[in-house]
Amino acid sequence: MSHPTPVLSAETRDQLDQVIASENGRSGALLTILEKAQESEPSKHLPKPMLDYVARSMGIPLSQIQSVATFYSFFNLEPQGRHTVAICRGTACHTRGSKELLDKLTTSLDFPPGATDKAAMTTRDMRLTVRTVACIGQCALAPVVEVDGDIYGHIDDRELKQVLNGLPEEGS
Ligand code: FES
Repeated sequence: MSHPTPVLSAETRDQLDQVIASENGRSGALLTILEKAQESEPSKHLPKPMLDYVARSMGIPLSQIQSVATFYSFFNLEPQGRHTVAICRGTACHTRGSKELLDKLTTSLDFPPGATDKAAMTTRDMRLTVRTVACIGQCALAPVVEVDGDIYGHIDDRELKQVLNGLPEEGS
């Protein structure tokens, strides 16, 4: 039995049409369009129907759009959690214990079965996406973790848990 194909809402198509109309032809248009498209999605990702729509509207092959979306790490092809935790795995952070930090965090969270890609994993309740990054550029503060864009340096697993427990819930 085939699965139903998800379609874009009229509202999403309108939003994309507006962005494409204002950006198309400018240098870097595709990146800006994909960035705005991702921002407009509550789960902060680029679903396949959205990529299809952008490809058709811009007259660009879907494969080209997919390679751009996979090349840049700030584009997500999978739905993201409401909060993002980025654990730095650069050399300075590694030597200051970031692997243990990552392992302790991931073993304390509930991921769907089969979620083993520590580069980006989202909890079953969609509250948190945990990802690893190469270097946040704050090596003097190692180990460094970024939570929803805020940087925390010299952090241990207990402090990280406190930060995560203090994150706002939906609607609060
Ligand atoms: S290695 Fe972690 S901030 Fe540079």
